[in-house]
Amino acid sequence: MSSIKDVAAAAGVSVATVSRVLNDHPSVSADARSRVLAAVEALGYRPNAVARSLRTDQTRTLGLVISDVLNPYFTLLARSVEEEARALGYSVIIGNADERPELQDHHVRTLLDRRIDGLLVSPTCGGSPLMLDAAKAGTPMVFVDRWIAGVDVPVVRADGRAAVHALVAHLHALGHRRLAIIAGPAATTTGSERVEAFREALGEYGLPLPDAYIGQGDFQADSGRRATERFLDLAEPPEVVFAADNLMALGALDAVRDRGLRVPDDIALAAFDDIPWFVHTDPPVTAIAQPTRELGRAAVRALVDRIEGRPPESVTLPARLVVRRSCGEPASAQAPAAQPSPMQRSMP
Ligand code: HPA
Repeated sequence: MSSIKDVAAAAGVSVATVSRVLNDHPSVSADARSRVLAAVEALGYRPNAVARSLRTDQTRTLGLVISDVLNPYFTLLARSVEEEARALGYSVIIGNADERPELQDHHVRTLLDRRIDGLLVSPTCGGSPLMLDAAKAGTPMVFVDRWIAGVDVPVVRADGRAAVHALVAHLHALGHRRLAIIAGPAATTTGSERVEAFREALGEYGLPLPDAYIGQGDFQADSGRRATERFLDLAEPPEVVFAADNLMALGALDAVRDRGLRVPDDIALAAFDDIPWFVHTDPPVTAIAQPTRELGRAAVRALVDRIEGRPPESVTLPARLVVRRSCGEPASAQAPAAQPSPMQRSMP
């Protein structure tokens, strides 16, 4: 494998000049630059990132610890994080915590040992002393989607409150009065906030949220299925199930179908998080869409600001309601001329 010295010799310049060209330093003549680039090409030279890191004390690498890589929401988030990081000259190492705090700690420890320049985390349940110590010790860190209260770390997230209110208004206008929710774990901010927003919105319409209409889920499909089965077994089942994430919504759909029932004729369904195949289910699922791509980008920008010495900012972006057919046809859409097409209308 050729070294930087070989490149310098082939180009007839010093090692320092090669280094300047490779680091896009402006003080190199056009002639020297093109000779160096030609030598790099001819010798197939690859810079030694490890040696560079030792020199600069930077790895140009970010860590991303997400709570569940199999959840399409987090997959989309990871994709946009990687995209933005690459645009800013950083690589990303992803750790999947699988909603297990001990696995989360394992990833955080490994990433810190590898001297990543900064850490993006969507925390599992509650805090992790390791992560909190790292934040206190000044490791550049940003929380994305979920956060841990009381830790002084910027947070990039979506606010779903207005969209949940829009959903309840939509359900109320369709005549639904018995509304149930499948909640995520209360120890996650996303788990607790969605129930609170739902309860608050129901309150505005004078609707109760009895305990029997709160299913405790864990953001996984099986828990959505079990909660829905329990709702369907009640003497007075709800008219609508609102799943607080997309996987629990899929579990709910399965449970309804396994009973030989139909959405929305027998029970309506709505989901937090819009995923690409919600338009392909029958019926297409009404969902609260988060600006996932923008969240990933904003989280990377906040982290890179922090790494590069600029003040990082917390960012909150609005989610929005996307009305499809899983809660029933809006009255105004029942005339053939106004039939909604599957993707369509979104309410802010
Ligand atoms: N869990 C599961 N799905 C989600 C979350 C979450 O915290 N946030 C957005 N989608």
